[in-house]
Amino acid sequence: MIQLHNLSFVPFITESQIQERVQFLAEMINKDFEGKNPLFLAVLNGSFMFMADLMRLIDGIAEVSFVKVQSYQDMQSQGKVTELIGLQQDIAGRHIVIVEDIIDTGLTMQSLVRSLEKKMPSSISIATLLLKPKALQCDIKAHYIGFEIEPKFVVGYGLDYNELGRNLREIYVLE
Ligand code: IMP
Ligand code: MG
Repeated sequence: MIQLHNLSFVPFITESQIQERVQFLAEMINKDFEGKNPLFLAVLNGSFMFMADLMRLIDGIAEVSFVKVQSYQDMQSQGKVTELIGLQQDIAGRHIVIVEDIIDTGLTMQSLVRSLEKKMPSSISIATLLLKPKALQCDIKAHYIGFEIEPKFVVGYGLDYNELGRNLREIYVLE
């Protein structure tokens, strides 16, 4: 058990389960994007660890970039993207692979996809480590999903509870 601020969390997904799954997703992505020169777009902050592990398993020379959108305050999803920050490239005609830590209501991802679509990429695919299918409030399709989980609050492997827990190598769930 670990304590973050006022809350206790218990082990949920082990480091080796995560690594095995990341490897599997990388193999799918490698196959699907062979010769297509995709741009991997990580959504900060939560995806930094997933992105780092995933990118080490991507074949060839990959282009990597980072964007920021509004994220969680406490445990309530804001769901609304105020702004898409940090996208430097012209993505017109590019194949985009969004790399996200978790899709909860899906509202963040929906706003992000809409902002990106305006920039006329060839395609947008979504890789998310975690998905809470029962929490989804919109029609978002992730192509690469690490784990489908119950709608419970999780931390670790990039995910935080009020900025704590991001460095943990495994994923924990609220007790
Ligand atoms: P959504 O808009 O509801 O899909 O929320 C997406 C964002 O909320 C994610 O990118 C995370 O930053 C955050 N989030 C959602 N669920 C969790 C969780 O269980 N733990 C930590 N952060 C979460
Ligand atoms: Mg996130």
